[in-house]
Amino acid sequence: MQLDIPILSKRTNGDIENHTKITTSSGNGKKVYIETYGCQMNVNDSEIVAGILQKSGYGVTDRIENSDVILLNTCSVRDNAEQKIDKRLQHLRHYRKKNSKLVVGILGCMAERLRGQLMGKQDLVSIVVGPDEYRRVPELIDQALGGEQGIAVKLSRVETYDDIIPLRTEGISAWLSIMRGCDKFCTYCVVPYTRGRERSKPFDIVIKEIVQLHEQGFKEVTLLGQNVNSYIDMDKKVDFAKLLDECAKAVPTMRIRYTTSHPYDMTDELIETMAKHKNICNYIHLPVQSGSDKILKLMNRHYTIEHYIERMNLIKKHIPNVALSTDIISGFPTETEEDHQQTLDLMKIVRYDGAYMFNYSPRSKTKSYMMVDDVPEDVKKRRLNEIIELQNQIAAEINLSERGLIHEVLVEGPSKKNKLQWQGRTDTNKVVIFDNPEGNYKTGDLINCTINNSTSATLFGSVI
Ligand code: 5AD
Ligand code: SF4
Repeated sequence: MQLDIPILSKRTNGDIENHTKITTSSGNGKKVYIETYGCQMNVNDSEIVAGILQKSGYGVTDRIENSDVILLNTCSVRDNAEQKIDKRLQHLRHYRKKNSKLVVGILGCMAERLRGQLMGKQDLVSIVVGPDEYRRVPELIDQALGGEQGIAVKLSRVETYDDIIPLRTEGISAWLSIMRGCDKFCTYCVVPYTRGRERSKPFDIVIKEIVQLHEQGFKEVTLLGQNVNSYIDMDKKVDFAKLLDECAKAVPTMRIRYTTSHPYDMTDELIETMAKHKNICNYIHLPVQSGSDKILKLMNRHYTIEHYIERMNLIKKHIPNVALSTDIISGFPTETEEDHQQTLDLMKIVRYDGAYMFNYSPRSKTKSYMMVDDVPEDVKKRRLNEIIELQNQIAAEINLSERGLIHEVLVEGPSKKNKLQWQGRTDTNKVVIFDNPEGNYKTGDLINCTINNSTSATLFGSVI
């Protein structure tokens, strides 16, 4: 029999008053199923919601068919992310047919962006909760189970959920949010409107949480934020470089990662801190978005390609074996063939180990929404394909050059394709597949592998 274990997705100022006003729901043993879409912040937010629900007496289940409540934690960053949710809601009607009392709620960025428009969608949705109002989820579920609709979408300047213990899935890697919101206002991005202003979790609490994760047996932690290098604890005078330094010292045997950082704030101190500590992973995700200064200016990114390359060179100098990844948007308004070529040129200069590559998607409320989306769809598509093809070629070349190298690999579990083979991750964030027919290596072990073969996405190794 499968147990109802907590599992989450696979892959102003009135706030203080709110904290005391709510979360005294009974739960009545009702079971909640949470499905997560979008970024890692959402994965951790679902864990926070699960923590809040459990505290209120609700059960959290990984079996949708057994649930009384289904919550979709959503993303709004591109239109296709929202379309996915529309399709999923259509599919959920099937569960409502079986259980007429089923409650369905929308959480996250889509809830914040579309608010009341989501209520009643597909004759299903009766709860809508934005990212800063998750403390109200139990109260709203209570009401919805009684047949009422409920919406909570106020953004906060202070909410960091720093007293909530996230209900994490068992495993070796944990997410730890250190800040929320974004003040950068890149002109294409809806996040500042859906997640509100930047605010940081107090330094002492981050350290306490990371030590707890270590004590609970986690081997790796990723510090999360929309913009982690804006982290600041004003009272303790701790910025992100200092926080990372203190985290590395607090849990010296744990691997530490972070995401996402902004090239404008990639300071010398941060790079030096990464170089100084063996347990801070040699991996940096630094979204560039475009290789054209003209486009970067229109995107309000606050840096030039010259600055970006200078930062990359400094990173490579201080951390010689570093792996680099990025985000690229293709087809931003006014992007010419020359701008596009500059993006390809930048990719050839930096030679990223990995990249997340997207077509531009206009989002209402953002500044670029007012610009004419003038790159035709077929041109956007062709340019994106060129970007993807070049990236695959570069990643394949880099991975090929890893043959013969020895990597320390944190064992994750059986590989998806072949049960006799297992997979783990290098500290440069690359997946390594290795033979484990007798099950000698267990999840959480650190092993050394020699790399024998590779593709653009995966390394294949043998255990030494
Ligand atoms: N269109 C396409 N991609 C976007 N991103 C953010 N907003 C948009 C948009 N409107 C991408 C950026 C960001 C990543 C998380 O999503 O590359 O770094
Ligand atoms: Fe969006 Fe820019 Fe903030 Fe990233 S830094 S979340 S792309 S506004």
